[in-house]
Amino acid sequence: MQGRVAMLTKVGNFEVQNYKVPTIKDDEILIKVEGSGVCGTDAHEFKSDPFGMIPVVLGHEGTGEIVKIGKNIKVDSVGKKISTGDKVITSTLVCGECHYCRNTPAKSNMCENVGVYGLILDDEKKFNGYFGDYMIIRKNSTFYNVSDLDLDLRLLVEPSAVAIHAIERAKTTGLLNFDTSVLVQGCGPIGLLVIAALKTMGIKNIIAVDGNNNRLKLAEELGARKTFNFTEYTDFEILRNQVETETDGIGAEFGFQCTGSPKAASNIWKFVRRTGGICEVGFFVDNGESSINPHHDICNKEITLVGSWVYTPQEYPITLSFLETAKEIGLPINKLITHRYPLSKMNEALETNIRMDGIKVVYINEEF
Ligand SMILES: NC(=O)c1ccc[n+]([C@@H]2O[C@H](COP(=O)([O-])OP(=O)(O)OC[C@H]3O[C@@H](n4cnc5c(N)ncnc54)[C@H](O)[C@@H]3O)[C@@H](O)[C@H]2O)c1
Ligand SMILES: [Zn+2]
Ligand SMILES: [Zn+2]
Repeated sequence: MQGRVAMLTKVGNFEVQNYKVPTIKDDEILIKVEGSGVCGTDAHEFKSDPFGMIPVVLGHEGTGEIVKIGKNIKVDSVGKKISTGDKVITSTLVCGECHYCRNTPAKSNMCENVGVYGLILDDEKKFNGYFGDYMIIRKNSTFYNVSDLDLDLRLLVEPSAVAIHAIERAKTTGLLNFDTSVLVQGCGPIGLLVIAALKTMGIKNIIAVDGNNNRLKLAEELGARKTFNFTEYTDFEILRNQVETETDGIGAEFGFQCTGSPKAASNIWKFVRRTGGICEVGFFVDNGESSINPHHDICNKEITLVGSWVYTPQEYPITLSFLETAKEIGLPINKLITHRYPLSKMNEALETNIRMDGIKVVYINEEF
């Protein structure tokens, strides 16, 4: 059996290549890929190869159908039965051996050697990422049977898990309740999914900040009560005052920082009131240092800060419930997907993502 992959052969260029699909081992699963989201991390690698992985098959936000399943696998990572024909999602592999895997296995997101599909060095398996016809799910992966969800929602499970983990981290501060005023800074897929999750939880007073009016419009549809386009304010103090007028005159009780901008990471501290909290989600990649004033921003305000790093297997079931509930209450989550491309057009797909023309750009396997 042969299958295609979009191999990133050099910066800015995918080449569709054909390979023989290898035979799987007893602890592996072969899936036929239905599609995959394109993520900012893929765009990073496409633009400049910061991870030094070329040649590589990218794509970690995907889903597919089980074609062959190793005889040792009967259930998914949360114990749900799984077999040929089921739809699955997977994105990470843990090492099982580092300090965190041994001592805090429930926090597998802290694994020091965590592997991510679509960011695996090219090897004899070839089908290592979702930008192709097939993918092989390896031993030690976390994978889930998501046959109940439609394709669009399945494509949004991975970024939704990032948002859900951020919310779970924020909940540990004890500051989130029905009445909390929450500011979400950055309305890319991650920020928008944080907004949708907050809305699904019943939080009413959500304020969104971004520089793109299309994204802010969707933020409103997903639950933001008030939106601000920061590019319309030459003076940050004016924007801050406007946010304060929406939040009892003293600032938001909680802030989610969902941009990769050091400037924004500095601003979030100014938007939040004394005794408030912040969840920093936006720096999956190192975009540099950001400044804060320890006196004004931390001590004097008694701020509680949490960081958020990907997600853990336990959060997948929560994420799936979130997506189902969001759908039930009529949040238009699927509007996040704005562009769909076949495998032959992955260069275009990545360029669209980089231009920020849409919100979520996805690969859809036309041969499925
Ligand atoms: N913590 C994690 O595990 C994790 C996982 C995935 C992604 N991320 C990070 O989350 C961030 C968001 O991801 P995304 O896919 O939504 O990215 P994205 O680039 O699509 O969205 C970022 C948004 O921030 C907005 N923005 C930029 N500067 C701003 C400012 N000063 N104020 C307000 N808004 C501003 C942009 O207009 C854009 O809409 C990325 O930087 C990514 O690295 C973190
Ligand atoms: Zn991603
Ligand atoms: Zn580990």
